[in-house]
Amino acid sequence: PREDYQPLYKILESATAFYEQQLRNPKTKDRPISYFKGRGLSGQTAKQFRLGYAPQGWDNLISALGNSDAEVKNLIKAGLLIENEQGRRYDRFRDRVIFPIRDSRGRVIAFGGRVMGDDKPKYLNSPETPVFHKGKELYGLYEAKLASNKIRRFVIVEGYMDVIALAQFGIPYAVATLGTATSRDHIEKLFRSSDELIFCFDGDEAGRRAAWRALENALPTAKDGRQIKFLLLPEGEDPDTLVRKNGTDYFEGLLNECDTLSEYFYKHLGAEVDTRTMDGRARLASLAKPYLEQLPSGVLQQLMLKRLGEITELADIQLDPAPPREHPEAR
Ligand code: CTP
Ligand code: MN
Ligand code: MN
Ligand code: MN
Ligand code: MN
Repeated sequence: PREDYQPLYKILESATAFYEQQLRNPKTKDRPISYFKGRGLSGQTAKQFRLGYAPQGWDNLISALGNSDAEVKNLIKAGLLIENEQGRRYDRFRDRVIFPIRDSRGRVIAFGGRVMGDDKPKYLNSPETPVFHKGKELYGLYEAKLASNKIRRFVIVEGYMDVIALAQFGIPYAVATLGTATSRDHIEKLFRSSDELIFCFDGDEAGRRAAWRALENALPTAKDGRQIKFLLLPEGEDPDTLVRKNGTDYFEGLLNECDTLSEYFYKHLGAEVDTRTMDGRARLASLAKPYLEQLPSGVLQQLMLKRLGEITELADIQLDPAPPREHPEAR
């Protein structure tokens, strides 16, 4: 029989309401409110994303939500209360602004908490729990679905504040993978609601690596009729800083003009070889082929193979059939 997670959802909802309340509580609200304001967020945006504040102290949740055995057990199971080896229990989130993570039905399943200063770690997230599986959930998906009943495209970004800033600037179709790599599950989930995905990670080395990783996971999903694109941001920028600096029209302009999968693919690989030499072109072919084999057979695969032929000046390049991928998430 399937376990009943209703008590977990219930306590996660109560915790969300508690953290939200602290943004109205005169004793606690000043620092988190000025933090959010300093990052340009409106009160309306804070409400929309149910932002909150976890106050200082070790036992706020037990005090506010109850300390019966059942409640404590559920708080631990929900990842809100940590139990150390000595059996002492304490709040996971302390003196952090809180970003509730909702599933696609709107139920809160986890939290991210950010320090307001320069302490480490910058973000603390809920652990994996029976209702929260990092590799499957996308921050902002519920909010994006609320904002429009037909989603033309998704922008996949790195962080909480990227999703929220874009939404406040009238781009309500951003979702974030929250520090984990974009998985095949993430991509398939998004393709259920839209046929265009734009990956838009931070303009730094980590962001560029994440983009290529995303391409690798996206290749098997790139059926004809679906569009997969890549927007590489200027060095040092992320979607939050860029939309704030340059505004909505500028950012949507970037989204409209960014690289398609095939453009990004050959740009990236082309930068790693010297295509003026035969040897370089041969190397390009050997790098590209295993990727092209991952594409579903169809027109895009044929066109990208044709392009490889043009670049290498070799008319007839053959692909080997793709090996079966039993566990696409294993990598
Ligand atoms: N992240 C995390 N833990 C960290 C750092 C990052 O879980 N210690 C996740 C968060 O979801 C974060 C995302 O990875 O939003 C992207 O990280 P980063 O670009 O470093 O942070 P920003 O989202 O840009 O954070 P901010 O703008 O608030 O400084
Ligand atoms: Mn980053
Ligand atoms: Mn960032
Ligand atoms: Mn940022
Ligand atoms: Mn590379």
